[in-house]
Amino acid sequence: MTRFPDGFRWGAATAAYQIEGAVAEDGRGRSIWDTFSHTPGAIDGGDNGDVACDHYHRIDGDLDLMAAIGLQDYRFSVAWPRVQPTGSGPVNQAGLDFYSRLVDGLLDRGIRPVATLYHWDLPQPLQDAGGWPARATAERFADYAAVVARALGDRVDSVTTLNEPWCSAFLGYANGTHAPGVQHPPSAFAAAHHLLLGHGLAVQALRGELTPRHTVSVTLNTVNTRPASRLPADRRAARDAELAQNQVFLDPVLLGELNAELVERTKEITDWGFVRDGDLATIHTPIDVLGVNYYNPHLVSATPSPGAVAWPGIPDAWVVPEPPPVTGMGWPVRPDTFAELLRRLHADYPGTAFVITENGAAYPDTVNADGTVDDAERVAYLRGHIGAVAEAIAAGVDVRGYYVWSLLDNFEWAWGYGQRFGIVHVDYPTLRRRLKRSARVYSQIIRAHGLDTESP
Ligand code: FCB
Repeated sequence: MTRFPDGFRWGAATAAYQIEGAVAEDGRGRSIWDTFSHTPGAIDGGDNGDVACDHYHRIDGDLDLMAAIGLQDYRFSVAWPRVQPTGSGPVNQAGLDFYSRLVDGLLDRGIRPVATLYHWDLPQPLQDAGGWPARATAERFADYAAVVARALGDRVDSVTTLNEPWCSAFLGYANGTHAPGVQHPPSAFAAAHHLLLGHGLAVQALRGELTPRHTVSVTLNTVNTRPASRLPADRRAARDAELAQNQVFLDPVLLGELNAELVERTKEITDWGFVRDGDLATIHTPIDVLGVNYYNPHLVSATPSPGAVAWPGIPDAWVVPEPPPVTGMGWPVRPDTFAELLRRLHADYPGTAFVITENGAAYPDTVNADGTVDDAERVAYLRGHIGAVAEAIAAGVDVRGYYVWSLLDNFEWAWGYGQRFGIVHVDYPTLRRRLKRSARVYSQIIRAHGLDTESP
């Protein structure tokens, strides 16, 4: 039996636009994902989040499911356009009330709420005014952070500013596969900086509203990149990809520095003139813990090949497909590189505490005639990756919790409803929920506070 340290927390994560639905109710404004998902051709199957899992109307049932699984923490996101319909100015009390009810429901069931302020749903009027490439958006984000802290801070003791700013910046503004669908790499680098600035200003705003017992964090999707060969061009491509994925965010947040190698290697794309005096000190405002989302590593080549995907924002770097085992998304299953990533983050940024804020896998699950969902591959994925966390902890990495992505099958962004990540199955026509086998196995892991390494 691999046991986890006392105090280690087990949870599950979701995001507002992916599960809530009710996009036009109780005064919610529009976000860039409402616009993008209704743009023809943007989402597989023409799907959108208008209804999603209808979680907005089903919170009691969903809270009961969380309790039945035995979750200790629940990581959800607050939809900015529910709270501030136009992204600035007047607060929509009905929107705040929804999250207040959710938080109370969690606390009633002994589950700790972990709130993320931004999981990609920028109010559309802020995009119309320039979006994340515009500096003012960072200031609006800090105002919104203070509003949420004032409303929920008495009951929520863990707040994350941003989820995966890499996706917001590079998928949103470089290759345009995510909202707002812009394809302009220089804007992606400006967006990355202003997301970071927004994070720093928000941390300061949160510190002003909250107490020292509160935990403040940001969640990054750091990725291991490996060159597809020993050729210098492939090594260069992998290094460029790594800098534009990891160091671009990690160095300002954890070291208060812009990465000089990144600035040098991207000078043809951007002059970094959007970084003003004092910004790095703001971004470096101390956080308590770093959220890490991990799914898979990337094999990077300088030349395209069949099935390769261009790395957003930087030239001549391609993510190459890898042999099985891969998930339904085609993502390689590599728990070994997860442990390696955590050890490396610990070595490069000493003294940092980590929470795994997302980890999980999509598979094409089916419901058996008896109503069960036997998602054996997901069970194996989760066990392998939880084992990798144990390995990292044994190697001295300070990891304080693990949250599975996701509680529910949900709207998987550009892939729509075609990819199922949940440990709870959602039948979209009826919205009926069913615990998958992975949910039952996860319950056992939580109860045992560890992995029984003997069991299959
Ligand atoms: C992450 C996102 C999350 C979900 C998973 C599969 O990048 O944070 O919303 O889409 O990937």
